[in-house]
Amino acid sequence: MTEKELCQKAIEMLDMAYIPYSHFPVGAALECSDGTVFTGCNIENAAYGCTICAERTAIVKAVSEGHRDFVRIAIAGRSEDYCVPCGSCRQVMMEFAPEMEVICLNGKGEAKKFALRELLPYGFDQSWL
Ligand code: THU
Repeated sequence: MTEKELCQKAIEMLDMAYIPYSHFPVGAALECSDGTVFTGCNIENAAYGCTICAERTAIVKAVSEGHRDFVRIAIAGRSEDYCVPCGSCRQVMMEFAPEMEVICLNGKGEAKKFALRELLPYGFDQSWL
């Protein structure tokens, strides 16, 4: 899949977001090394802490289907600024694919790319245990 197609999938997921509290939609499209793509959206809850982010929705879908080898993730929002992953999502990405690429989109569909290690320098992983 091209980068543009992956970004388009993340953008399409904005409409699936369940966001009655924040009204802040996020969509994600996660690409695995074999080319499989898993999508996700944020899913909020009246008990706010039970909310799951779009990125982690996509990651848990992938891992529960036997995929752990992630290459890149596109993250879409509707804001002026690029939609960057929260700290928890960065940590969960680090668990499976520390070398993955993170593509952050703004509401215009423009992209800013990062290496996960840039977003989570000196991150905690299995090597610390
Ligand atoms: N959100 C995500 O889905 N991904 C992130 O990395 C940042 C935050 C969601 C959670 C919540 O539903 C809304 O954005 C506002 O925080």
